[in-house]
Amino acid sequence: MRITGGQDTIVLLAKLYEKMEDGNLETNKKWWKESVVYQIYPRSFKDSNGDGIGDIKGITEKLDYLKELGIDVIWLSPVYQSPNDDNGYDISDYQAIMKEFGTMEDFDEMLAAAHERGIKLMMDLVVNHTSDEHKWFMESRKSKDNPYRDYYIWREAKDGKEPNNWGSCFGGSAWEYDEATNMYFLHLFSKKQPDLNWDNETVRREVFDMMTWWLEKGVDGFRMDVISMISKVQGLPDGPKGDGTLYGDFGPNVINGPHVHEYLKEMRSQVLSKFDTITVGETSGVTVQEAVKYAADDESELNMVFQFEQNDLDGGEHSKWNLNKIYLPDLKEVLNRWQTYLEGKAWNSLYWSNHDQPRIVSRLGNDSDKYRELSAKMLATCLHMMKGTPYIYQGEELGMTNVPFGSLEDFRDIESINSYHEYTENGIIAKEDMLKYLCYKSRDNARTPMQWDDSKNAGFTEGTPWIMVNPDFKEINVKEQLTRKTSVFHYYKKLIWLRRHNPIIVYGGFELLMPEDEDIFMYTRSYEDVNSSKETCEKLLVICNFSDKEREIAVPGEFAEGEILISNYEDAGCGKEICLRAYEALAVHN
Ligand code: NOJ
Repeated sequence: MRITGGQDTIVLLAKLYEKMEDGNLETNKKWWKESVVYQIYPRSFKDSNGDGIGDIKGITEKLDYLKELGIDVIWLSPVYQSPNDDNGYDISDYQAIMKEFGTMEDFDEMLAAAHERGIKLMMDLVVNHTSDEHKWFMESRKSKDNPYRDYYIWREAKDGKEPNNWGSCFGGSAWEYDEATNMYFLHLFSKKQPDLNWDNETVRREVFDMMTWWLEKGVDGFRMDVISMISKVQGLPDGPKGDGTLYGDFGPNVINGPHVHEYLKEMRSQVLSKFDTITVGETSGVTVQEAVKYAADDESELNMVFQFEQNDLDGGEHSKWNLNKIYLPDLKEVLNRWQTYLEGKAWNSLYWSNHDQPRIVSRLGNDSDKYRELSAKMLATCLHMMKGTPYIYQGEELGMTNVPFGSLEDFRDIESINSYHEYTENGIIAKEDMLKYLCYKSRDNARTPMQWDDSKNAGFTEGTPWIMVNPDFKEINVKEQLTRKTSVFHYYKKLIWLRRHNPIIVYGGFELLMPEDEDIFMYTRSYEDVNSSKETCEKLLVICNFSDKEREIAVPGEFAEGEILISNYEDAGCGKEICLRAYEALAVHN
C-alpha cells in the first residue's frame, strides 16, 4: 500500500492504523529483530589446549562454522573469572577472564574475529549475585561497618533461625549463616552466590560502570541473568509453603519485584542508551503483562525477555523433577498468548533450548533413530517461523539429544546433584526414580561437549573432557552434517536464510489455527509492506505435526496452490487437503 496524499489520505491512514493493530505492518524495524542468535556454552564448545575444558581460542577456531550457519549474534555464557561453583554463573571478577578459558587478549582476538565476520557478541551479565570470592563480598563479610557491607543482603537471625523461610533454587535454605558477624546473608542460588543489594545506589553504579567498560571494549549487548529477581520486597516476608515442601517460595517477594522496572530504566538511561545494543532479560516468572514493560517497543528497558511458561508446562509436584510430557494444546496456548499479547507493544524472543534445559528433540520431539532428524527439523520450523528473535543453543542445529547418564557420578551440575541429595535423603523421591528424572531433565543434558566429528571425544578435546561425551557422537556430528545436504544443520541454515530474505517471517502478524488439536501446530503469518504497491496481504501458513501419526488436514483455500518455502520431507506438496506424515512440517506462501 502506498500513501500518496490528497483526499484519500485519511481513509488510507485509517487502513494503515488498522493493519498496524493487526500486526500486519511493522513500522518499528530494528537489526536485533531481524537477527538470529546462537548461544555458546564455552566450557563445552571447543577445547584448544587439551585440558578437557572448552575455551576462547576454541571459539575463535569455530567462527567460520557459525558464519556458514548464518547466525548474526553470539550469546556467550559467562567467561569471567569464577571459582566455578555454578560453571561461571558465580563471578569473582567481572573484568577478568576465567583462567581455564584463556586471557583477555584471547577475548579481544575473538571479538575482533567475530566482528570481521559480521557476527555480533552478546555477553552474559550475571548481576543478581556475585561469587562469594568476589572482592566486594570478601570485604562485606568482614565486619558490619565495612564500606562494602551494604552491597549484599544481610539479616539477623529470627527466633534463633534463618531470617525467613525462603528456599534457594539449588536446594536448602536461601540464607547462610556467617560467623564473623553473627548474621545471615541471602543467596537465591548456591551459598557461593550471595545476592547483591540493588537497593544500594553504589551497587547499581558499580554494575553500570562495569557494563560501560565492556560496551566501550566493543561488545554488542547483554543477556541478563535472572534479572527479574534483582528487586526484593521490603522486609523480606516469608513465602508460601506447599504441603511436604521444606522451604517457602521466594517468588512472590522477589520476582518482578517493586523496583525492577525503575532500576532497568536507570540502566537504560545511564548505559544502554549510549550504545547500539541487543539486550535480552532472563525473566523467570514473567507474565505477558510484565513483559510489555520489560521489553516495551519504546526501548525504555530491554529489547526482549525469555519467558519460562513454555518450560514450566511439564513441571509437577516436585518442580521439574518428573517424566511428564508437555501437552501440545497447552504449549500452543502459551506461545499464542505471547505472540498475540506482545503484538505492537513489545518484542518476543523465541527459544526451545539453552544451557539450563534438556535437549529439545528428546523433550518435545522424538529422538529415536527413525524420527530424530525429522522431529528436530519440525521443531525448528515451528519456532523459526514465529514472530520474534530466534535463539539456537549449540548442538541444537545438529539435533543433539539427551545423554544416557549412568549414575550420579556422571553429573556435574550443582542443581542436579543438590536436588538428588535433597529429594532422596529426605525420603521424597526414590533414588532410581530421581536418576531417571535427572536423565530426562538435568541441565547437564545440554552441557556435554559439542560434537564436531566422529574422532576421539567427538573432536572436542585431545584431553579428558570435564563431562562425558554423548556416545551418539559417531552418528551425530558437525563433520557428517556439513557434507550431507539433507542434514539438520542444512535445514537450520535454510531457515536462517529464509528469515533474512522474507520480511514476513520477521515482521508478519501471527494467528493460531486449530488451538485444541493434540498433534498439529498450525498458524499463519500476514504482512503488508508499507512501501509496496501491491494491495494484497502476503501470507504464510505453517503446519507442524508433533506426532508420529499420519493426519489429514484441510488447508485454508488461499494456500491450496501456494509455494512451499521449506519442508522436512523432500516430496512435500500442498493442496486443498494434505495427508501429513510423521513429524512433517511445512511453510507455504500464498
Ligand atoms: C540462570 C542461569 O541460566 C543458570 O545457569 C544459573 O545457574 C542461574 N541463573 C544462576 O546464575
